[in-house]
Amino acid sequence: MPKHSQHRSRGKFALDADDIEWLESTPETDDGPPEGDRWSTWDQSTPTEKGPKPYPDWLVTELAAVDTEHGLLKTGKEADVHLISRGVPGTDRVCLLAAKRYRSSEHRLFHRDSGYLEGRRARESRMNRAMANRTAFGKQVIAAQWAVAEFEALCRLWELGVPVPYPVQIVGTEILQEFVGTPDGYAAPRLAQVSDGLDDLWKQLVEAMVTLAGEGLAHGDLSPYNLLVHEGRLVIIDLPQIVDVIAHPAGPSFLDRDARNVATWFAAKGVAAADPDTLADLLRKESGRT
Ligand SMILES: Nc1ncnc2c1ncn2[C@@H]1O[C@H](COP(=O)(O)OP(=O)(O)O)[C@@H](O)[C@H]1O
Ligand SMILES: [Mg+2]
Repeated sequence: MPKHSQHRSRGKFALDADDIEWLESTPETDDGPPEGDRWSTWDQSTPTEKGPKPYPDWLVTELAAVDTEHGLLKTGKEADVHLISRGVPGTDRVCLLAAKRYRSSEHRLFHRDSGYLEGRRARESRMNRAMANRTAFGKQVIAAQWAVAEFEALCRLWELGVPVPYPVQIVGTEILQEFVGTPDGYAAPRLAQVSDGLDDLWKQLVEAMVTLAGEGLAHGDLSPYNLLVHEGRLVIIDLPQIVDVIAHPAGPSFLDRDARNVATWFAAKGVAAADPDTLADLLRKESGRT
């Protein structure tokens, strides 16, 4: 009899260290794919956890697909971004995806079944461990909330026609999105590293920011590091903290800060049209917050 059902039959709700070890060692990879690192996770997301329809032609949605890890693109404070490919073995159906994984130090288990926590709280003798795991649980929830916020922002902006990577799907704390870069896996440079075509990139940025402001939104962390440039096109990334300018008490100041961050950079690079005050005024007007 599997260990967990033995425990359940004794009416024991709380997990102890053995259970966690057992659950963690439950090899998801046991019936893993013959090649690649995992089966495509496409069918693990519900329709609302997938990107807007129509799904792009390039996106591999076949259930026979496998995901292969190609390494870390960047490690950040809350998340790491990995490059993966999703392809159907033995065919030329393959696409590259950026996997943004929000970090939480502990077991995914607690995110999936908060019922475990209730059982733990009831047992005095396990209080210390329960507290420790509640912290872990808390971190897990926070990480998942950031992921959800970013995924929803990407979907909303994609549907507005704002240039963002296509949001493929969200599974827990992982967001899969269109990889912005070359077919052989070189990520597009950040605006901060770009010196050509700045006049045109400025126009693209103002247009995107006006659309956002018109929807009552501010990026909230806009900078030359959260803008990618791919084949002359500007792509906005890193949106978990997107701000509702109307509802948030400090909304207009986020709008101003975004405007000043980017306009100051473009102005310093010699783009004559870029002026922090002018952009800030324009965005306030567009958002109805004059
Ligand atoms: N969709 C993507 N395509 C290509 N590179 C990406 C993509 N998303 C993120 N990156 C790379 O990963 C870096 C970090 O991503 P970002 O979303 O800004 O996370 P962080 O919160 O760590 O700043 C980006 O600067 C970029 O270089
Ligand atoms: Mg960033």
